[in-house]
Parts: sequence; C-alpha cells; structure tokens
Amino acid sequence: MEVLELQNKTHDETRQGEAFAPFTNEVNSFKKHFYIESYGCAMNFSDSEIVASILNEQGFGATTNVENADLIFLNTCSIREKAEQTVRKRLTEFRKIKESKPQMLVGVLGCMAERLKAKLLEEEKLVDIVVGPDAYRSLPNLIEEAEGGQKAVNVLLSREETYADISPIRLNSNGVSAFVSITRGCNNMCSFCVVPFTRGRERSRDANSIVAEAKDLFEKGYREVTLLGQNVDSYHFIDEAKDEVVTFANLLEKVALISPLLRVRFSTSHPKDITDEVLYTMAKYHNICKYIHLPLQSGNTRVLQLMNRTYTREWYLAKVDRIKEIMPECGISADIIAGFCSETEEEHQDTLSAMEYSKYDYSYMFFYSERPGTLAERRYKDDIPEEVKKRRLAEIVALQNRLSYESNLQDIGKTFEVLIEGESKKSGNDWKGRNSRNKVIVFAKENYNLKPGDYVHVKVNECTQGTLLGEIAAVDSPLSIVNSKL
Ligand code: 5AD
Ligand code: SF4
Repeated sequence: MEVLELQNKTHDETRQGEAFAPFTNEVNSFKKHFYIESYGCAMNFSDSEIVASILNEQGFGATTNVENADLIFLNTCSIREKAEQTVRKRLTEFRKIKESKPQMLVGVLGCMAERLKAKLLEEEKLVDIVVGPDAYRSLPNLIEEAEGGQKAVNVLLSREETYADISPIRLNSNGVSAFVSITRGCNNMCSFCVVPFTRGRERSRDANSIVAEAKDLFEKGYREVTLLGQNVDSYHFIDEAKDEVVTFANLLEKVALISPLLRVRFSTSHPKDITDEVLYTMAKYHNICKYIHLPLQSGNTRVLQLMNRTYTREWYLAKVDRIKEIMPECGISADIIAGFCSETEEEHQDTLSAMEYSKYDYSYMFFYSERPGTLAERRYKDDIPEEVKKRRLAEIVALQNRLSYESNLQDIGKTFEVLIEGESKKSGNDWKGRNSRNKVIVFAKENYNLKPGDYVHVKVNECTQGTLLGEIAAVDSPLSIVNSKL
C-alpha cells in the first residue's frame, strides 16, 4: 500500500505514479516513448520501475505526457472489483487518443492482466499487449509482435523470477525514499484474496542483490528503503556460496548495517509469521523504523477461520502485546475487511473491539468484494447486503479516525527525529517528513539550510487526525543525531 497517500481511506484504487523524474525532457535520443500508470499496492509501483528499466535498456524513453507516448501501459490491480473498474474507465479515456494515433500501442500489465489473460483483449478492444507480473522480461518481444499488428499476450507465472539482476529506474521519486522488493508471490491462500492467483507462488530474492540495491540507493543519496513483499516475514534465502540461510530478521540486519543514516522499513507482515527475532532486530537498530503494518482483517476468530488467516483473535492481540512489550513506541497499522461472508453484527463488534485494543495509528479499510476464483467465492455465499457492508465499514472508519486522532494527541509536546522528504504540499515555507513511527510531521523551514534527505529534530505542537505539526527543535549534523541515540 502507498502508506502516506492512502491512510484512513476506504480503498486504494487511487491513480498515482505518472511522473518520471529522469526522463521528463521530451527532447532526447530515445527512438520511442512510453507512458506508465500504476494502480494498487506498493509492489505494483515497484514493478513499474522494473518495467521502466527493461524498456529503457531497449531504447524506450519515458514520458509523463500521454499524448506524446508511442506506448501506454497500465500496471493494474485486481484486489477488489472497484480497482478493476477504475482501470476499465481509464482505458476508455485512452480510446480517443488511440483514434487520432492508431499506431500507438496500449498494454495492460499486472494483476488484471494475469487474472483475465487473453479475455481482456476481447473485452477491451483497444488493448494490444497483456503481460502478467512474472513476464516483464518478454515485453520487448511482445512490443515487437504488437508493432507487427498481432495482439501479444504473456501471462506465464514463474517459480523463480525475482528480477534480482534488474536495476529499477526510480519513478516519481522524491530522491529520499525507495521501494526494494524482497519476495514475490504469496503462498497463504487467504480465502478472500486473488493475489496468490495473480502473482503466483512465493519466492525470495537473492539477499546479496537486495543489499547491493539498498547500498546503491544510499550512495545515490536515498535515506530510506522499504523492503516489500506480500509476506515479508516468510523471506527465506539459502546463500549456497556463503553457506548461509538468510531469514527476514537477518536480512533486516544486513540492510540496517549499510549505514545508520539509512532508514529501513518493511511491508507487509503476516501476524502468523512475524517472529520475536524480527522484533528484537527492530529494537536493536535505531535505523529500523518502529512501525509495523499488521493486517487484522477481522477481530473475530470464526471469521478469521473462514478467511483462512490461520490465527485467532487472541493470537493477534497477543502479537500486538508482544510488539508493545519489546518496543513500547512502535506504531501499528492494519488492513480491515468489513462484511465478509456470513459475518454477524456481534462478529463485526469484535473487529471494532480488536481495533480499540490495538490502538492502530491508521488503517486501510475495505468492504468485502468477492473475487472470481478465490476460495471464498467457491465456498461461501457473499451474503451481507451492500448497505450493511457499507454501514459496518463506516463504523470502522469512524473508530479509526478517533484512534488516529487520539494517537496523534499523545505526541503533542514530544520531540521526534524526522527525515525530511520534501516540501509540504500546502506551503513552500514548510517541510514534510516522517518520524520512525511513520507519522507525517509538517514544520516551518525557518532560516535553516536544510534539504530533503536531512534528519532534524522536530517538537510537536499541534495535530490533526492525519498529521503532526511542529517546529524545529535541533539541527545537529545527522551523524551526531543518530549517534546520540545509538
Ligand atoms: N475484498 C476486500 N478487501 C480485500 N483485500 C484483499 N482482498 C480483498 C477482497 N476480496 C484487502 C485485505 C488485504 C489488502 C491488501 O486488501 O485487507 O490485506
Ligand atoms: Fe492475499 Fe493473504 Fe497473501 Fe496478503 S497474505 S497477499 S491477503 S493471500
């Protein structure tokens, strides 16, 4: 999930990621130009950076202007029906451009391509290329086929592909934070979820290539990496050359050791897999951010069982206790689904009480959307009326809004180390950054000579539900800030 943009929102179908920092100059030597839009989870945004790299190698330059593009790509999401509808609507908007420019090619990438396969070509006549998440290396060939007038499809899933050797081209980058993918696919089979079908079996990327990518980012001036996977805690890599097994905790440590100035985040954790070893590693390193995205989905054990989440309410809440015991200052966020098949009012109340207990800083909240081919679609009836789902979701959102505000109120008067990410959207006189706990903090630039990527101490004076507002408390050299806390 795009953490900053989407917190406390009810769905994640926001369109983002059209701007490409390195290629915005339209006068360049590239033979052709592509335009790419990404939808859905952070993994899709990360994949678009891999696609950009593959296309770049073949002499295609990126453009932010869809009118100038020879190729248009949509990197799509299938997680809820609404996500797919958003993509279909966007495709109709491209129809006009294609009418005036018939040689322009339109490609659909990602989960919707994988789910619908060649059927997408029948349903959406303007689409020329359909490519699943494991087949991006074949894009240059598919483009060639499509240029020859053929429709081109590759939706083969792989058990090995991790794109480990591809250096992503950072899109839409603030030059400070970047995603680094560490696993692909998912073996969990939550009954509501289409991801195991669209992204295939889980595989872990070579730890050496992950560390090398993070190091390279640090050397280029980045100060924060987010390690990405559907279930990061099940990361498992056997390094035969070094005769070493690398767990997620080991990997976190390796990345944290690159530099105390490089912040490390990760997403997403599965409550059944996050270990004490991971929690202790987080606690040990100042630069591993004290924040865990720990999807709840439901606060009721019977519903969790139907969802095939493999934990109970008690197990989940004990995990929350354990996190707070080892790291009292750790922030927690969640994903929550309202109105899953056969959920009763009492069971919905259990979700609310689990939220209240866990005191999430924020949540991503959805109502259940039946997805074709999933276990839930085959086994259970989607029997909660839409208005009930929406009312339950509204109650969940209202509670989360209160919890977020209460959590922020508690920070008033505290001073946090903040990594500056850029100017505040509202005012060029203010900086925006985040603290370790992933809370957004806005503060006046004053007369200090700071820039994105710098660390600064900020004292919080006020807050809204989504943001802390503060003032600069100390501007040390970044190393002394970090060292004083080590
Ligand atoms: N309906 C609603 N929400 C879903 N999610 C996954 N599948 C569905 C679905 N069919 C949510 C889960 C997951 C997040 C990425 O999306 O909460 O953690
Ligand atoms: Fe989907 Fe569950 Fe895997 Fe997350 S862990 S991607 S919700 S199957």
